[in-house]
Amino acid sequence: MTTTMNFFQAFGYFVSFAVLLSYFGVSSLKDIRISVPVAVQRGERAILQCQYDLEGDPLYTVKWYKSEREFFRYAPKEKPPYKYFKLPEHKLVEKYCNATQIVFDNVSMAVAGLYSCEISLDEPSFFTDVRSGVLKVVEVPQSEPLIVGVKKRYRQGDVVKADCISRNSWPAVNLTWYLNDRPVHISHLKIHKPHNSTEGLVSAKLGLRMLITEQLFSRERLKIRCVASMYTVYYRSCEKSIEMEKRRPPTYRTTTTTEFPWIEPPPEKYPHTTLVLAPSTKNDKSSHSSCNRWLLTVLVVKTIVGLYSQR
Ligand SMILES: *[C@@H]1O[C@H](CO)[C@@H](O)[C@H](O)[C@H]1NC(C)=O
Ligand SMILES: *[C@@H]1O[C@H](CO)[C@@H](O)[C@H](O)[C@H]1NC(C)=O
Ligand SMILES: *[C@@H]1O[C@H](CO)[C@@H](O)[C@H](O)[C@H]1NC(C)=O
Ligand SMILES: *[C@@H]1O[C@H](CO)[C@@H](O)[C@H](O)[C@H]1NC(C)=O
Repeated sequence: MTTTMNFFQAFGYFVSFAVLLSYFGVSSLKDIRISVPVAVQRGERAILQCQYDLEGDPLYTVKWYKSEREFFRYAPKEKPPYKYFKLPEHKLVEKYCNATQIVFDNVSMAVAGLYSCEISLDEPSFFTDVRSGVLKVVEVPQSEPLIVGVKKRYRQGDVVKADCISRNSWPAVNLTWYLNDRPVHISHLKIHKPHNSTEGLVSAKLGLRMLITEQLFSRERLKIRCVASMYTVYYRSCEKSIEMEKRRPPTYRTTTTTEFPWIEPPPEKYPHTTLVLAPSTKNDKSSHSSCNRWLLTVLVVKTIVGLYSQR
């Protein structure tokens, strides 16, 4: 009986001890922060960092993984403390790598992926924690975005049919249209799928379909802008200004009536004008017909009365 009690007591102590350990372990490693750039341009340098606060606990290892594969290990107690495991197509710059950072040079598309940094503490806790981040490798467009199909002048009621094109990037850039610096509502956009072009690159295209109304213009001008962007690494815009071509007020307004005597015709010359121009509406028609019915009734009554009076 006493042995079982002792066993349970021992087990209880062990559990509390483990809970306490892991509690302190967590508390001393809760500050691991991985910093992986969202996107790096192909051919450039990528710096990945892993910051941690050990709060006085001894560090056992810092390990870096690409997906599940370990490619770097720092173990201060070992000789040598740094170990590198080759990843094909990754140019790890060993002289810049240390306990908190990893550097790749001349990154290729193959360098993109999921990176994890794992920190392990030494005894007594051996606590381990890991953080991950995704690195994208991009190819920015070599040329500026283009606006095609825009005329210089539009009239009220015309439709703008324009396209914004950004060629050869990976991935496709995000295109956005602005009219006088306001983003265009999605109902005026014609969305095209990215188009495959050479060497695994894609081209992006976004259409603008918009009815021209005077309200769009400010001082008879409308600024049309297209922005091509890619994460935080690329931002270019292209702008065109269009003019509202007004149907000018007829020129005779500025001239005298003697030159154009028909502007204010003398009313006596056209005595029937109002009669001719007055349109008959539905209401008029119905009142007409009810009037006719009334007239008919009067006639019938008159005839009957006449017939009776004749008798
Ligand atoms: C690693 O190198 C970077 C850049 O040289 C430096 O800022 C950082 O303090 C180094 N980290 C450690 C733990 O030495
Ligand atoms: C970068 O890597 C590419 C192959 O991925 C190679 O063709 C090029 O010469 C390299 N550039 C430099 C500066 O090392
Ligand atoms: C474009 O390329 C991708 C792979 O990069 C492929 O999956 C897709 O089918 C291609 N689309 C067309 C229309 O060729
Ligand atoms: C495009 O925009 C969306 C929404 O803002 C964003 O999630 C995405 O990362 C952007 N893509 C690129 C290539 O910039």
